[in-house]
Amino acid sequence: MNTEEKLNASYPSMRSLLPYFLYLRPHLVPFAGALAFGAIYGISSGFGLPFMTDQVFPKIFPSSTDSVQLTSLELLMYILWFPLVFIVRGISSFCNSYLINFCGMKVLERVRVDVFSKIQRLPLSFFNQHQTGDLLSRVTADTAQLQNAVLSVSNDLIRQPITFVGAISALCVMAIQRDGMGFVLLCLLAIPLCVFPIRRVGNLLMNKALGLQQQTGGLTAVLNENLAGPAEIRSLNLQDREVSRFHDQSQKFFSARMKVVKYSHILTPLIEIITATGISVAIFQAARSSIHLDAVVPVIVALYMSYEPVKKLGTIHNTIKQGLASLKRIQEILDTEESISDPPSPVSIGKIEGKITFKDVSFYYSSPNGKAHEEAALHSISLEIQPGEIVAIVGRSGSGKTTLAGLLNRLQDPSTGTVLLDDVDLKNLPLNKLREAVASVPQKPFLFDTSVRENIQLGQSSYSRDSIENALKNANAWEFVSSMKEGINQSIGEFGSRLSGGQLQRLALARAFYRNSPILLLDEATSALDADNEEKIHQVMKKLTEGKTALLIAHRFSSIRLAHRIIVLDEGKIVADGKHDDIYRDCAVYQALYDSQLQDT
Ligand SMILES: Nc1ncnc2c1ncn2[C@@H]1O[C@H](COP(=O)(O)OP(=O)(O)OP(=O)(O)O)[C@@H](O)[C@H]1O
Ligand SMILES: [Mg+2]
Repeated sequence: MNTEEKLNASYPSMRSLLPYFLYLRPHLVPFAGALAFGAIYGISSGFGLPFMTDQVFPKIFPSSTDSVQLTSLELLMYILWFPLVFIVRGISSFCNSYLINFCGMKVLERVRVDVFSKIQRLPLSFFNQHQTGDLLSRVTADTAQLQNAVLSVSNDLIRQPITFVGAISALCVMAIQRDGMGFVLLCLLAIPLCVFPIRRVGNLLMNKALGLQQQTGGLTAVLNENLAGPAEIRSLNLQDREVSRFHDQSQKFFSARMKVVKYSHILTPLIEIITATGISVAIFQAARSSIHLDAVVPVIVALYMSYEPVKKLGTIHNTIKQGLASLKRIQEILDTEESISDPPSPVSIGKIEGKITFKDVSFYYSSPNGKAHEEAALHSISLEIQPGEIVAIVGRSGSGKTTLAGLLNRLQDPSTGTVLLDDVDLKNLPLNKLREAVASVPQKPFLFDTSVRENIQLGQSSYSRDSIENALKNANAWEFVSSMKEGINQSIGEFGSRLSGGQLQRLALARAFYRNSPILLLDEATSALDADNEEKIHQVMKKLTEGKTALLIAHRFSSIRLAHRIIVLDEGKIVADGKHDDIYRDCAVYQALYDSQLQDT
């Protein structure tokens, strides 16, 4: 394989576009209509125009030997052929484009939704390996590029070959009818010559188009990151750095774009030069064999009509190649394994009791290149939590607390070992059921740009104002929510930007109250409420954990008073498990953590 072949081997082929044509199935009627209008357009352009020039011109401008003079009415009838052919061509062109765009947009709408829904099912490790901005650009810019390719394929792949065949037929008819016109067929030899630049340029373009799409992703990524941290950028004086970062990326985008522009616009002039040479040969031959002008004009029109589709098909070939580059980026998402998915035959469990077991669990994060980190975030964790037990997990920052919690609702699966709920391996439970059973209040709560009510009620269809109000009251959030202008219907802004950190955390707690799941995961769930009265927070937590199996992750020891048992994690290992007094005596890590807090307070 030479380098170009090797390069092409890593790209999807034209055949990979085929499955997307199957998406046309629900739109067969408009698609068939589009094809029919495309055929009418092709015939009226390729055959109709030259044929009409050939047949009608001699009638309007009879040669001097013809003595028959046309009446005005007859003249009008002949002249009307011109607008008539153009009316047919124009209407069929419009209907073809309209219907084909309709079908193309429908197909792409499905591809876009497919990609989006695939993203919903991908494991968290996928997001470690991709920048958000790049993903944004794959879902928007790459699908748009693919759409462009599918549209131009569908638009012209019918019209142009039919135009081409029509024009060639017109040429053949004329060559047969008259003597000395056989040479025009020779001029068609210019067409195979066009194939070489079309292929070569198309392949180069595919490579450049991939580069361009990557730079588009890069540009979106810089913008996305910048817009996510406006406060940090200002307080750290990073404006100039950000502008220069954006400028650099913008320049990379510019040069990638210009490469695409170069290759996508070089083809048309190349083909025009080759075909103009063909037409010149035709004129030269016509002049030498002293053929009359009115016999030459239809030939030139037919030749032009046969060259034109070649030029268009060259451009389409380019567009398809760009589309294939985008398809490669889209397929990278679509082909990613859904490592965390519903089991093929899920075990049905009735009421969940809440017994949690970790059996020799280890976990490695994957690094951005997709390989597993050498360092394990969790080492051989074995642990059993009884229904209704409240367990506190403490440990230094980075010791693996959040990672451990994430295994429980299958945000991640253990690299080795098993996690069980009521003695059933989590991997055998329906994902929905598992995630319904676990209410988690994460370290950084995420709230949607919608009303307080919807944020609390998320994922649950039934809505009762009373229970939302109760949840808010239980989480000590009612006071501030009811003082807002629109109460529980007030919108809280993107990521809850209109609320304070403590208010966001209270809403996240209210969400957990509302869900009322048998298992609770509270990861630093009260860290932003430090300024609140200790006793108030304690009451909230007590009410929330009542009758539930709960994992409390907390830096603040006062908030783990509730726990029946304390587990100490250090460097991903359990170093102590028991009651405060015992582990304070036996575990140096715990002692150090506890004492440092005492000093702080
Ligand atoms: N997405 C990730 N990709 C790679 N490594 C990660 C990722 N998240 C966490 N880690 C690493 O795993 C280890 C455990 O992290 P984890 O978030 O579980 O700690 P933690 O005990 O919750 O810390 P903290 O108290 O600061 O919240 C850390 O060394 C961290 O650097
Ligand atoms: Mg954490």
